[in-house]
Amino acid sequence: MTRILVVDDEPTVRRAFEALLSVRGYEVVTTGDAEEAIHRLESDDCDLVVLDICLPLMSGLDALARIKQLRPVVPVIVMTGRGTTDTAIEATKRGAFEYQLKPFEPREMLDTITKALEAARLMKGRVDLGPETTEPAGEAIVGRSLVMQQVYKAIGRVAQTDVTVLIRGETGTGKELVARAIYQHSQRSHLPMTVVNCAALPETLLESELFGSERGAFTGAVARRIGKFEQAHGGTMFLDEIGDMSLATQAKVLRLLQERSFERLGSNETIQVDVRVLCATNRDLEKAITEGAFREDLYHRLNVVTIPIPPLRERREDIPGLIDYFLGRSARTLGVKKPPLADQALQLLQDYSWPGNVRELEHLMQQLVIFTGGYTIQASDLPAAVQGRAEGGSTERAPMIEDQEDQWLALIRQYLTTSSGGAAHQDLLDRIEKLLITEALRQSGGNQTRAARLLGLARPTLHAKMQKYGLMSGS
Ligand SMILES: Nc1ncnc2c1ncn2[C@@H]1O[C@H](COP(=O)(O)OP(=O)(O)OP(=O)(O)O)[C@@H](O)[C@H]1O
Ligand SMILES: [Mg+2]
Repeated sequence: MTRILVVDDEPTVRRAFEALLSVRGYEVVTTGDAEEAIHRLESDDCDLVVLDICLPLMSGLDALARIKQLRPVVPVIVMTGRGTTDTAIEATKRGAFEYQLKPFEPREMLDTITKALEAARLMKGRVDLGPETTEPAGEAIVGRSLVMQQVYKAIGRVAQTDVTVLIRGETGTGKELVARAIYQHSQRSHLPMTVVNCAALPETLLESELFGSERGAFTGAVARRIGKFEQAHGGTMFLDEIGDMSLATQAKVLRLLQERSFERLGSNETIQVDVRVLCATNRDLEKAITEGAFREDLYHRLNVVTIPIPPLRERREDIPGLIDYFLGRSARTLGVKKPPLADQALQLLQDYSWPGNVRELEHLMQQLVIFTGGYTIQASDLPAAVQGRAEGGSTERAPMIEDQEDQWLALIRQYLTTSSGGAAHQDLLDRIEKLLITEALRQSGGNQTRAARLLGLARPTLHAKMQKYGLMSGS
């Protein structure tokens, strides 16, 4: 159970936290005394500390320093009242995860708590590496394929160094997992890893999130803000989705990597930091460079050590091991028996294209454990998309179309530039429908009943469409 320690000298605030957090399934421990909080942390672990820094007996910043010394990786959210933000800002500089001004909205506080716990999860959950970990205690990177062994070797080679690492791969291939493994095996694992998702924030906000900003630096900058790079000093920064960063922010990141220094937005003061940078992207950076969306110099700076993670369809030998791992894990969490898998079902799973890669496989295994309730997983329990491919694509085509969306788009673009407008929409759909029906009839040897089933259409509907397109036999 997730345990949160709340330190506040006002009993009403402590009670409010107890009510707010315990209904959400957190274990809450409260105290009004910083000494006691520190004493507790010496013997017990907790996942998060919420600390009021206006305490009567000990300076809040001293309390923070001692908590950080004892539990450097546990996030601390500081609270401050009386309209003064200076101490709060100082606290974030000294490693507090975030600050909240009192009085606060419960929603806002909960949001911050959720974010802090997610950050804690990424740092804490141990990631084991590779082939022999069939029943690992925590999480593991599973897969014995040659390409995955290269990944493990690369992690081993770079983890102990301070070199910048770029992790590349399609969505769901395990980039974040690899970043966490590198962090946990690094010399900086005793200090936090700060994660920023560059795709989640608009341009100015991202820049301010990373580098900080002075009051009034942009519309909405109401107070000085300490950036994540400054907070991460001494530790590790994971820049996720780095391919989605604006050119201006890219320039700042480049300078940070080269000189280890930057300025807050709206400030001339140069700040030096010592941060190890890991980053990940599923974008085609080479293409982004030719399109002028990604800086070539930054690319070369990042590309010193690249760990490519191949899509699952290019390492199908890993599929049985992953299935076994996820079935076992889901069964354990749900407290049910791990279901056996019929040979035919395994074959279908192994033949499927997995456009969502390992994440898609993980989710499917969770669903199967729930739905089959411990009974053998049969081929018929699998989603149509997984069954369809092995049946020669007869029932479900969506994943294949998703795979080739780019090509479809190219055709559509070409069509729109050449069509004379007017009925373009209907005209294109008609053409595609005609091709679809022609092909279905071909595959079913001209048998309309079979073609209708293949298309999921009623027979009279198919008949009408065949007439419309002049596809009746003899025409
Ligand atoms: N080799 C693996 N062994 C075990 N679990 C894996 C493996 N690869 C990925 N996973 C799991 O699959 C899920 C997706 O992985 P992760 O979030 O690391 O992917 P990602 O590449 O960062 O995806 P995205 O580009 O969508 O952010 C996670 O739950 C992760 O634990
Ligand atoms: Mg990711």
